[in-house]
Amino acid sequence: MAKYFLTTPIYYVNASPHIGHMYTGIAADVLARHYRAQGRDVLLSTGVDENSQKNVEAAEKQHMPVQQYVDAMADTWKKAFDDMDITYDTFFRTTSEEHKSAVQAMIAAMQAKGDIYLGDYTGYYCVGCEEFKAEKDLIEGKCPTHKTEPNIIKEKNYFFKLSNYRDHLLKWYEDFPNAVQPTSARNKMLSYITDEMEDISISRQSQAWGIRFPKDEEHAVYVWFDALINYLTVTGYPNNGYEKWWPVDVHLIGKDIIKFHCAIWPAMLLSAGLDLPNTIFAHGFFTVNGEKISKSLGNAIDPMQLVQQYSKDVLRYYVLREIPFGSDGDFSFDRLRQRYNGELANGLGNLVSRTLAMVEKYQVVIENPEEISQQGQEMIKKVGGYIEKFSFDKALAEVWIFIAHLDDVIDSAKPWELAKEGKTEDIARVLTEVVQGIAAIGKALHALLPDTSQSIRELVVAQPIKKPSQPLFARKD
Ligand code: MSP
Repeated sequence: MAKYFLTTPIYYVNASPHIGHMYTGIAADVLARHYRAQGRDVLLSTGVDENSQKNVEAAEKQHMPVQQYVDAMADTWKKAFDDMDITYDTFFRTTSEEHKSAVQAMIAAMQAKGDIYLGDYTGYYCVGCEEFKAEKDLIEGKCPTHKTEPNIIKEKNYFFKLSNYRDHLLKWYEDFPNAVQPTSARNKMLSYITDEMEDISISRQSQAWGIRFPKDEEHAVYVWFDALINYLTVTGYPNNGYEKWWPVDVHLIGKDIIKFHCAIWPAMLLSAGLDLPNTIFAHGFFTVNGEKISKSLGNAIDPMQLVQQYSKDVLRYYVLREIPFGSDGDFSFDRLRQRYNGELANGLGNLVSRTLAMVEKYQVVIENPEEISQQGQEMIKKVGGYIEKFSFDKALAEVWIFIAHLDDVIDSAKPWELAKEGKTEDIARVLTEVVQGIAAIGKALHALLPDTSQSIRELVVAQPIKKPSQPLFARKD
């Protein structure tokens, strides 16, 4: 059975998850469910990035010891993913012992290659980004993302000879044009690698929180360097057996972290002699009034509040349908309500209710509710194809085209007229086609809207088929 290893970023735990974080989790969950249903052996890894200075600052604000703080927050994040039914296989924590060993093994491999040296670092550091900044990255002296002045740092650091890997990386981009997606991310990275990429600092002197640099206890490993290695640790690296999962099939990330994933990380892997990921896909941002949703800007939207108001599947539907994966888009409660009423309540919900109500009313026995027509099979295939291309919006749109088609089948056959004429066989034929179509929709939605898929399945296999006691999606005005 072919394996499929996919990852989400690991999240800083300095605040609770917002909708932007759940977005990657939901997309990853769709892929994981899709490939599992195809019989692939899936490893979906997510988790938390704990060795960050941001977490130290958050713990200080709460007057808590850092370890105690990250323990509590790791539980909060895990619960959020569990509550959303994100079917991860591992929930990774970077404070784990096995991770320390993996980071040190990776550094040892890179040292053996002669790629790490001790030097002086003088410059800016934004704790919000956990990133060293050049003068040109700042706007009026401030980090454009966090709107704060970076710290000025002057210290001894270990450096990674990233610039050694320029040609190798460019060759990888050329040989595997789909490795970094979408094209906007690929182009940005090609220009970064060609024109800007320099050696990077991979340690922080005198930083108490974080993984110790091998043989130099005074230094902590730079948090991004440690975080990226989580993808290796989950496979069991450096112990035997990690090869089962390596390399990564898909890294799903947000577009703000492409430099780390699409330049630094592949170079680290090249240095350590490890295979590069097959695909790295960078999605866009959810914004509110054009501004990225973020905990530091205070415009976060709590996904659980939306789940309570609507449901998990409604949230999944909205985030996957509204914005093409890879583009930015504004989060709007109005648009969510419109899509809910129009597409879920009136569209899918109404089709199911009215069809099953007619089956009940005209006492039709549906012989093979789960038999799928040629047209249904084609629709399911297209939906799967779009999922595999990360076009979740198109996958859902395809299902809704089929919903409109089934509505047309009913409206043109008019079973209520057929009933007046006593044409029971014709009624049975039409309603069988539509019920089987609904079953096909249930199947197509398996990975995208799992709860809805399950409800549909239960409704169509029930004998005798009855109108649902509650609508799948009750209108909300
Ligand atoms: N800890 C690093 C990732 C390390 S991975 C080896 C990090 N953490 S984060 O918590 O700040 O962000 C995690 C992910 O959430 C990133 O992919 C980021 O793009 C995503 N998002 C944060 N805000 C977002 C939106 N408003 N919209 C969509 N995704 C966003 O970076």
